[in-house]
Amino acid sequence: MRLDKYLAERLGIPRSESRKRIAAGAVTVDGAVCKRPDAHIDEHAAAVAVGGAPLAGAYQKYVYLMLHKPKGVVSASRDKRDVTVTDLVAADYPRRQLFPAGRLDKTSTGFVLLTDDGAFAHDIVSPARHLPKTYLVTLDTPLTDAMIRGFAAGVTLADGQTLAPALAEPDGADPCRVRVVLRQGVYHQIKRMFGVYGAGVNELHRAAIGPVALDEALTPGAWRELTDAEVAALRAAAGR
Ligand code: URA
Repeated sequence: MRLDKYLAERLGIPRSESRKRIAAGAVTVDGAVCKRPDAHIDEHAAAVAVGGAPLAGAYQKYVYLMLHKPKGVVSASRDKRDVTVTDLVAADYPRRQLFPAGRLDKTSTGFVLLTDDGAFAHDIVSPARHLPKTYLVTLDTPLTDAMIRGFAAGVTLADGQTLAPALAEPDGADPCRVRVVLRQGVYHQIKRMFGVYGAGVNELHRAAIGPVALDEALTPGAWRELTDAEVAALRAAAGR
């Protein structure tokens, strides 16, 4: 990667500013001053320092975040009226084009994965990859055997669309609390599935994407980077 691009990305500064620092002789690569902004460096191995201070941490080609989406925030990159999931993290990643890999309704809460890795995001949402998503749902009426059997067989929605089989099972002692596992992502899917049985959804929370559960330490609106192990587990679960 070009040195000026690398420095701009690592420091979150414009490319013009990065070139100025390089031209001023403030930047060393593997211990030697480098004044050429177009010098090519190995971004995974080079030891780059600015003003004598080594850049901390390894270079990340892509960013992968686990966000606990609160109610009222929309799952989009930009929105004219509402705060988006990307807005919540943008200040920490000024040079990254982060977007959500899959959506939750504005009223839903829980795990939203944000990344700038388009191929990875596609694997997370693609029905062909069968990555299960786990939801905790509170209904306005108790879960019935008909719902459980219907979900397992594949619900036919009001518009005639038949969905893939899904799991619905009691979640604890409250008969209105349900754990749902889906392997596809149709708009308002869970609300429409329960709607077929005349049941309304009061609360909807995504607890896990594939093998990775939402970190319980994250309060609504909080986020952290996924660990390398979590990214690897998601890739493996998507068959990569
Ligand atoms: N199904 C829904 O109806 N809403 C969500 O936010 C997610 C799944």
